[in-house]
Amino acid sequence: MKPTNPPGETAARKRVFSGIQPSGDVHLGNYLGAIKGWVDRQTEKDNFFCVVDLHAITTPQDPDALVRQTRSMSALLLAAGLDPSLSALFVQSHVTAHAEACWLLNCVTPVGWLERMTQYKDKAAKQESITTGLLDYPVLMAGDILLYDADEVPVGDDQRQHVELARDIAQRFNRLYGDTFVVPQAVIPQVGARVMGLDDPTAKMSKSESAARGHAVRMLDGPDEIQRSIMRAVTDSGNEIRFSDDPGKAGVDNLLGIYRVITGRGEAETEADFADARGYGDLKARVAEVVIDALTPIRRRYDELIRDTAELDRLLARGAERAEAVSGPKLDEMKRRVGLTLRRPAHTG
Ligand code: AMP
Ligand code: TRP
Repeated sequence: MKPTNPPGETAARKRVFSGIQPSGDVHLGNYLGAIKGWVDRQTEKDNFFCVVDLHAITTPQDPDALVRQTRSMSALLLAAGLDPSLSALFVQSHVTAHAEACWLLNCVTPVGWLERMTQYKDKAAKQESITTGLLDYPVLMAGDILLYDADEVPVGDDQRQHVELARDIAQRFNRLYGDTFVVPQAVIPQVGARVMGLDDPTAKMSKSESAARGHAVRMLDGPDEIQRSIMRAVTDSGNEIRFSDDPGKAGVDNLLGIYRVITGRGEAETEADFADARGYGDLKARVAEVVIDALTPIRRRYDELIRDTAELDRLLARGAERAEAVSGPKLDEMKRRVGLTLRRPAHTG
């Protein structure tokens, strides 16, 4: 059952769980589609955020780079404003319940459900040999969420299908073994859920492409680089600065969307802000300016945090302890439900 509130608290705060992979370069899509929302709403919620290194190894990773990137992602989340007193921040492989929960959930998940996942199909199409881990990725993710009885899962639009699957798995387990899990809900931002590539506004900005020149603004890019990438963004041959569903105007729509999420302005206000702009050059220059203003303080804080690995590791240890306090008992309950309750006999010599 879901834990009751600590004494003194009246209305239940919603439990939030989300994760991000420590692979590739974190970009503006990750920030606007996911991280910014986590930070902005953390005071209202009961939060768990996870750097999902077990997910990262579903595609090949250099072992030393993975260690560096796991620390780096953790520092970046703190630099972006995650507050360890409000949110438990931890590394997935530090809490062994995640891998164990995945196994138990594997055993109730039809393989057909996984073969239908669009992200799997996209990734599999790019690889010669497909591992079981890549197919199983969404079950590991379902375990992440269900172990915490999360009510809400704030993610970008590309993860919607995976959260739906976590709901299906929760419902199936509940049906087979009795009420065990909260059925979670995806929380997808209305704007910013799908930031598109600057070089190709018909494809989403992605970590695997983010090293390519002109594709993405990376969260740790300096002002000159941000300026260069945005000034080079693909637009169209017209000159109308407005939101639009027209695929031909996807580049302008994307730039306006970025401006809108960062400034918190409405759609009409955003268009009004550009009423006096002279063409797309002006649009790009102003979008670059708000992006630089948003990312510069994050980059500075990151530079400080990443230097003090002892402090960072201490924070991650505390996060893992808080995560274990919730996920440990939940895993025990899962095992009980399934019938894994036989005590290991004491050694008799
Ligand atoms: P990932 O890069 O797959 O680790 O994703 C981390 C988070 O960022 C997830 O919540 C994704 O849905 C979100 N995300 C990734 N790419 C984008 C994008 N281009 N636009 C908006 N959100 C994104
Ligand atoms: N699969 C997610 C992504 O690539 C990351 C993730 C792993 C996640 N576990 C999660 C997101 C649990 C939300 C909840 O973006």
